[in-house]
Parts: sequence; structure tokens; C-alpha cells
Amino acid sequence: MTTGTPSDILMESQLDLPRRQGKVREIYEVDADRLLIVTTDRVSAFDVVLPNGIADKGRVLTQMSAFWFERTKGIVPNHLIRVIDSTANPDLPIALGPEYVGRSMLVRRAQPVLIEAVVRGYLAGSGWKDYQQTGEVCGIRLPAGMQESEPFPQPIFTPATKAPVGEHDENISYQQAVELVGEEVANAIKVRSIALYVYGLEKARQQGFVIADTKFEFGLATNEEGEEEAILIDEALTPDSSRFWNASTYRSGEHQEAFDKQALRDWLETTGWNKEAPGPSIPEAVREDLRQRYLEAFERITGRELIRP
Ligand SMILES: Nc1ncnc2c1ncn2[C@@H]1O[C@H](COP(=O)(O)OP(=O)(O)OP(=O)(O)O)[C@@H](O)[C@H]1O
Ligand SMILES: [Mg+2]
Repeated sequence: MTTGTPSDILMESQLDLPRRQGKVREIYEVDADRLLIVTTDRVSAFDVVLPNGIADKGRVLTQMSAFWFERTKGIVPNHLIRVIDSTANPDLPIALGPEYVGRSMLVRRAQPVLIEAVVRGYLAGSGWKDYQQTGEVCGIRLPAGMQESEPFPQPIFTPATKAPVGEHDENISYQQAVELVGEEVANAIKVRSIALYVYGLEKARQQGFVIADTKFEFGLATNEEGEEEAILIDEALTPDSSRFWNASTYRSGEHQEAFDKQALRDWLETTGWNKEAPGPSIPEAVREDLRQRYLEAFERITGRELIRP
């Protein structure tokens, strides 16, 4: 159903600016106030970057995030300045080749807040595991007898630590989040994350998707009034940061048809891999399947065509 010629795969970017590498993104310092975030086609699973990438993935993540940043800026301020949509960028100190077009984003630099802001609307993933063992998710007591994939009475905020490279993020209680970042920041992030999730859930549902859960990152930045506040940074409501289910086939109590990394995780589980680096190389059929799922989620949710050079 989805079309388009796959573009070349970018595993690592090379720009002549100071750089920091995340698992998927590379962050360049443009100047004191601005960063250039290049989203590569790398894929991480179980916190390990796999040896080969997925065509179009970086562009889907960048352009889907941009779509949500534009739509939600009235609810929660975010870091987006603009997406790099051509090789002509007179406001940048370096030249960007076509491989950067559509996958890079100029953003406001912020001071990252050191928790992952996870919001869950449905019982899945590590939440489902926790619930089966304890009847709780991140210290939040939930109704008894819930099934896998069932919606919560209302979305819950379940923060996690931001683990250093090579380690796993760990679920924490809201109280632990307060201890890590302070009451004011923790509360702002909680309220803002839930507002973003509720907005995204509703919009995505109109396009036939259920966003079961998602993860946001926030950073502290100074606003026009000169006050420091928590703004949304990194990415927003993408198939990397969220669970996207097909609404028309969704059934509570079942494993769902997913337009996110689940197909890859399912394949990885069949390989006997111990989930430590290095991970196995992904076969062509699995990569193409994932590319199509990401593209379909992007096209259906945004109604846009992917910008390629
Ligand atoms: N506006 C911003 N200001 C400062 N740092 C930012 C901004 N936006 C994103 N970042 C940081 O850039 C990095 C993005 O890298 P990437 O998305 O590959 O993340 P990661 O943290 O390694 O992995 P994952 O997203 O899988 O947890 C993160 O460390 C994030 O905190
Ligand atoms: Mg990230």
C-alpha cells in the first residue's frame, strides 16, 4: 500500500561541527543556542544498536516528530526551529549534502532533564510484565483482572531513568522522579506529557491508529519572559518512541498488529540472541517490512509524503 523509492541508508553522519552521538541521533552544536539533530537510519532494540539500518527510517522519525511539534506547540512548547528540507541553508556555518535533507532538524538547545517521561494509555510491554507480577505499574495500583492491551481508566505517567549508553532505562515511581529532578519539574513534565499523549491519541485514532504508550524527553530552556521551563525535546510520538497499533484490528487481551519496532523485537526473539552487543544483522525481509510499517504510520497519520532529496 505504501510507495516511494527507498533512499540510501545513513548509518553515521559526518559534519564538521562538535558532535555527540545517541543511539539513533547525532547532535551537532551549531552555536550557543542551536543544535542540528541528524536522525540516522540506525535501529536500536533492547538498547543495543544493530549492525544494519532501515531505509527511510531517519526521515520518517524526523518528519513525524516535526508534524507533532507543529501541531502541539500551543499545548507544550518544543525545541523545533525547522526541518532541513533543502541543501540551501544560508543560516548554517556548514554545507549539508542531500543525505541530510528531510532527516535533520535545527532545534533550540536545552538542558536535558534526566528522566524519560513515559505515558501509557494501554497495558503493554514492561507495564504488562510489572502488572502481572505486582498488580501495579511503576508503583501505580491498577484495577484487578486487567488483560494485556486493555486501556487504563485514564492514561498514567510512568517515568523511567535515563540510563547511560549500554545500560537499560529503569522504571521508577513518581516519587523517585521527584527526588531526581525536583517537584516542580517532575510535575510540569507529568502534566505536559499526559496532555501531549491525550492529544496524539485522539489525532492518531482519527487515522486508524491506537498509540498505546509513548516516551517523551524534556529539556529546560529560557522562554520569552525570561523564565526557565520544561520544553519538549528530542522526538515526538514516533514509531520509535511509541507503540502504534492498528485500530481496526485492535482487540483487548491479544497481541496487536503494530506499526512500530515490535515486528523487529518479535524476529529478534526467534534468533536466540542474548540481547547484549553486538546484535545480529537484520535480514532484508525484516528490514523491508519495518520500512513499510514506519512509512505507513507516517503517511496515514500526517497525510504527508516523505520529503526525500
Ligand atoms: N533540544 C535539545 N537540547 C539538548 N539535547 C537534546 C535536544 N534534543 C535532543 N537532545 C538529546 O539528544 C540525544 C538524542 O539521541 P537519541 O535519540 O539517539 O537518544 P538516546 O538517548 O541515545 O536513546 P533513546 O532515545 O533510544 O533512549 C538525547 O540524549 C537527547 O537528550
Ligand atoms: Mg532519544
